[in-house]
Amino acid sequence: MSVTAINERFIHELQEKVDIEEVISSHVNLKRRGKTLTGLCPFHNEKTPSFTVYPDTRSFYCFGCGAGGDVITFIRRIENLDYVEAVKSVAQMAGMPMPEDGYDDTLSKKRMRILAANREAARFFNACLTDPKNREAYDYFIKRGLSPNTITKFGLGYAPDDWRQLINYMKSKGYSEQELVFADLAIRSEKNGKTNYYDKYRNRVIFPIIDLRGNVVAFGGRVLDDSKPKYINTGDTLVYKKGSGVFALNFAKNANDNKLILVEGYMDVIALHQAGFGNAVAGLGTAFTPEQANLLSRYAEEVIICYDNDGAGREATKKALNVLGRTGLKLRVVTMSGGKDADEIIRTHGKERFAALLNESANKTEYRILQEREKYNLLTDDGKLKFLLAATQILAECGEIECDIYATRLSNELGVNTESIKAQIKSARSKLRRSDDERRRREQETMLSKSFEDKNNPERQANLRAARAEETLISSLMRNPDFYNKIKDDLSPGDFVTAFNKRVYECLADKLESGLDPELSLFAKDFSPEEMDSVTRMFHISKNLNNTVKECEDCIAVLKEKNAPVVSDVASVSDEEFLELFKKKQNRM
Ligand code: CTP
Ligand code: MN
Repeated sequence: MSVTAINERFIHELQEKVDIEEVISSHVNLKRRGKTLTGLCPFHNEKTPSFTVYPDTRSFYCFGCGAGGDVITFIRRIENLDYVEAVKSVAQMAGMPMPEDGYDDTLSKKRMRILAANREAARFFNACLTDPKNREAYDYFIKRGLSPNTITKFGLGYAPDDWRQLINYMKSKGYSEQELVFADLAIRSEKNGKTNYYDKYRNRVIFPIIDLRGNVVAFGGRVLDDSKPKYINTGDTLVYKKGSGVFALNFAKNANDNKLILVEGYMDVIALHQAGFGNAVAGLGTAFTPEQANLLSRYAEEVIICYDNDGAGREATKKALNVLGRTGLKLRVVTMSGGKDADEIIRTHGKERFAALLNESANKTEYRILQEREKYNLLTDDGKLKFLLAATQILAECGEIECDIYATRLSNELGVNTESIKAQIKSARSKLRRSDDERRRREQETMLSKSFEDKNNPERQANLRAARAEETLISSLMRNPDFYNKIKDDLSPGDFVTAFNKRVYECLADKLESGLDPELSLFAKDFSPEEMDSVTRMFHISKNLNNTVKECEDCIAVLKEKNAPVVSDVASVSDEEFLELFKKKQNRM
């Protein structure tokens, strides 16, 4: 296969033109802190910001999870695209036409083919549902209260009770069995040396999952009875990643109501839409992910969570509140009553009842306090005290006004002086801040520490001294490309001890040889988004180095083990010394 070779000049111009701050801002709520911006990391779950954007080096780095890279890597990750597609997407934002040729888009073509196959399959499933032969499946939906219009609107379908009907149909439309496996519509099995293909969905009603561009990206298939598993779903394919989509957002985004109703199941969403709540959506089976939360925050200001009122539902609510809370969305929680889920409530009590529940929904703070209240017996002093401590802990995370309101409410309810409640909130808050600062400090330490474990460089731990010397060299050269000519004769890639760092150096040397500035984005082509974490980390440690040719020479000496290293050798300082150095540099900034 040919290597993707989008012209480096083009990538460079693209970097110049596109504003990383603006691009990342549309996915992450960023706050300026001097030269950098920080926010809650979209790649891992956190409550306090570790995610940092560096407009000057056009890069980002998360001190919490180590994710890092340039703008292309960011888009690649957050939108789950391959390199060429990410470049295309960024080029579009920058209004730059892509160069005509010279790059490989086989992967894009494969994706297009899967999307086309999915669309064709959705048509087939839908036709099967309305085929009188499959009356039973159609009746299943009707019995569950769906109208023919709703069935059409959601493109619902049925996969016949057969091993090859879909395959045969798709083959008649020009798709190979292999392609159907890529789309996760067919399963390949190997038995007695013979290869066999069969339909993945059999005797199940089908819910197509449609993305915001109107593409059919995946399917969910439900049994018609109580057998297990209740659902099977499309696994990861080139066009779909579990935990990345939101069911019915393609419709809900047009409701334009700034609010979204978040429920658990496909049927809940469909029943709500039919009852006139066109802003209902659902996560897809898995726990709600940061990616899904960011997606919702692009289309709404408020999310009302309506999960089942049982143990699992409450646990899921807690998690969703956490993940959604990081986006800046306003949150409310409905306590379901009169049925286990939205679908049941609407069918047994009508839509008015559900509307009333929405009205009574609690905001996030109220809900969390409510959950705490239920744990204690407020008739005893001990119970009151414990509840109060838990409630002030929650309020410590809230703004002044909210604190005022709830302090008064709690005071009335429990007969405790408002001022003492406020004092308690204040002390909880400063404790929280302290542990926050502590955590941030620890995170920076980890990133800079000698023993930083690098998932991309498995040889690092066993060769720490050499690896640190390699990283120092790479980092220093990235920042000071003029050093390259001064040291290149003393250093060859063969001197590198760890294979990963050697690769980084080779890529870097290649850029420097051709007179290019060693921008992070030039690495994005040869390194996966995960590998970019490590490249970015190296890029950033240069801030804490001496940045002298001498330092580079010391590192080369370590690699060659020619001379015993001298004191100024950065690769041999202890963690403590290294951090001291780091602090000094910071104070100077
Ligand atoms: N789900 C899944 N796999 C399962 C169970 C659930 O993927 N084995 C996902 C589906 O997206 C489902 C959602 O989790 O819609 C909620 O699960 P549940 O409440 O059990 O499903 P409902 O769609 O409400 O099913 P029912 O037809 O029983 O109302
Ligand atoms: Mn249900």
